[in-house]
Amino acid sequence: MGISFQNVDHSYKGAKKKEIIKALEGINLDISDKGEFIAVVGKTGSGKSTLLKHMNGLQIPTSGNIQIFDYTITKKKNKNPKMKKIRKRVGYVFQFPEYQLFEETVLKDIMFAPKNFGFSEEEAKKKALSIMKLLGIEHLASKSPFNISGGQMRRVAIAGVLSYDPDIILLDEPTRGLDPKGALDIMELFYKLHKETNKTIIMISHDMDIVYKYASRIVVLNDAHLTYDGDKVKLFESDIYKENHLTKPEVLKLIDYLNEKLKLNISYEHYDLDDLLKYLEGGDING
Ligand SMILES: Nc1ncnc2c1ncn2[C@@H]1O[C@H](COP(=O)(O)OP(=O)(O)O)[C@@H](O)[C@H]1O
Ligand SMILES: [Mg+2]
Repeated sequence: MGISFQNVDHSYKGAKKKEIIKALEGINLDISDKGEFIAVVGKTGSGKSTLLKHMNGLQIPTSGNIQIFDYTITKKKNKNPKMKKIRKRVGYVFQFPEYQLFEETVLKDIMFAPKNFGFSEEEAKKKALSIMKLLGIEHLASKSPFNISGGQMRRVAIAGVLSYDPDIILLDEPTRGLDPKGALDIMELFYKLHKETNKTIIMISHDMDIVYKYASRIVVLNDAHLTYDGDKVKLFESDIYKENHLTKPEVLKLIDYLNEKLKLNISYEHYDLDDLLKYLEGGDING
């Protein structure tokens, strides 16, 4: 077992005196440390980032408890050394992670986290170089992280997290602010990493096309409550997605259109447009 939420609530203090903002209420959730690709979705303010931050101890529940590997986190039990171990195993990529770059060179920036987690200089360098290769940014090693493009900065920041080889990777809107090509490149990279290493990835996204293409399980939040947890096809086959203020992926709108207008019977198990087109070209469009 990787991460397990048991009846977790989280409230923030509001700006006004005595005001409390309930960000999570009664959350129960089990996530395996292997082989999951989960999308966390829901409208702005529904509690997605708060949920993710509980998965590596960046936030502590107001009540309930969270099991992360062998560690239990409750309001009271959260000692510092334990947190460091948790954060090594569960890596968190913030929204706009490039704002957290700070070293003189790209290589030094990527080496920072593994060194902080106890790797030697030599090991950290080896880790950093191998991750840079995976992300196609080896050639940037000696550049300043502030003199590269936005897409490259995003990759450097992501490399900083991958370099200490966490077991579970948390991504808070990884494609936000990237152009469509940059967004797909980044997603392909995470997908490849997930397939090759079987690492669990948990990603927040507002882009239903990306969610439908890459995730296998979807967790929906609505006003601090978990309102759906399961299969992506089922979510969009029912009205649950509408009730939770979500939009349908483009590929499904097209499938609906073809099924209605042309009386076809195409299943929702085509996860992106390319896949659907390939299927349609195959000719057998009634299956
Ligand atoms: N640091 C904070 N202090 C006070 N309220 C917060 C804080 N962070 C988030 N909130 C509030 O908690 C709720 C959930 O926020 P968040 O988890 O960021 O949602 P999402 O990521 O889905 O947009 C919102 O009402 C938000 O305004
Ligand atoms: Mg958020």
